[in-house]
Amino acid sequence: MSLVIAMDGPSGSGKSSASKGVARALGLRYLDTGAMYRAMTWWMVQNDVPVDDPEAVAARAADPVLEVGTDPSAPTITVDGTDVSEPIRTREVTNAVSAVSAVPAVRARLVVLQREIIGTGGIVVEGRDIGTVVVPDAPVKVYLTASEQVRAQRRAKDLAADPAASVTVTLDEQARRDRLDSTRTTSPLTRAADATEIDSTELGLAEVIEAVVRLAKEQT
Ligand code: DC
Repeated sequence: MSLVIAMDGPSGSGKSSASKGVARALGLRYLDTGAMYRAMTWWMVQNDVPVDDPEAVAARAADPVLEVGTDPSAPTITVDGTDVSEPIRTREVTNAVSAVSAVPAVRARLVVLQREIIGTGGIVVEGRDIGTVVVPDAPVKVYLTASEQVRAQRRAKDLAADPAASVTVTLDEQARRDRLDSTRTTSPLTRAADATEIDSTELGLAEVIEAVVRLAKEQT
């Protein structure tokens, strides 16, 4: 397999910006698996599927058609031909995504799609279970973390257009999402034993990118 860089970690750890930056620096493709779980969630909400009912979600998991573009400078995602890049970032989707992504039928389907996109490699893949489940033999694995407070500040900044998204609200919602993502039965968020942990609490984006690029050069 050619180069695959698995970037896992909790929400707000800076994975997306760092993953895109690393992909650009090394001329690799980029896959945001979180966007795929969000797109699936958006579709469930649109189609009035009760997201807290795992059986109802599982029954529809095969229906939406997802297409994902892997250019790190312009990643795209469509569901049934509709561009959902923006609607998948709303608070409604963000607060429902943990329930949908805990459903085994959803994960099974998306992992197959993710492996198809990854193909023979040349890609940076960000998510929660990339180094543990999706590509356990990835040559480079990073587990990116940051303090809860810094992660909530970053998320609140992303959501600046939403007046309800104060740091305190974001901190509560983030803690809830992290708890659900880390305690679910199927593929919970956990650091792979062979992943290198990078704590970005006190690092700028450029420093995180540099650390991952250095690691990729050392390990391949
Ligand atoms: O990275 P993100 O915040 O966009 O991810 C959205 C949600 O999707 C997150 O709460 C957990 C889920 N997710 C997952 O279960 N597995 C992945 N590989 C990526 C995301």
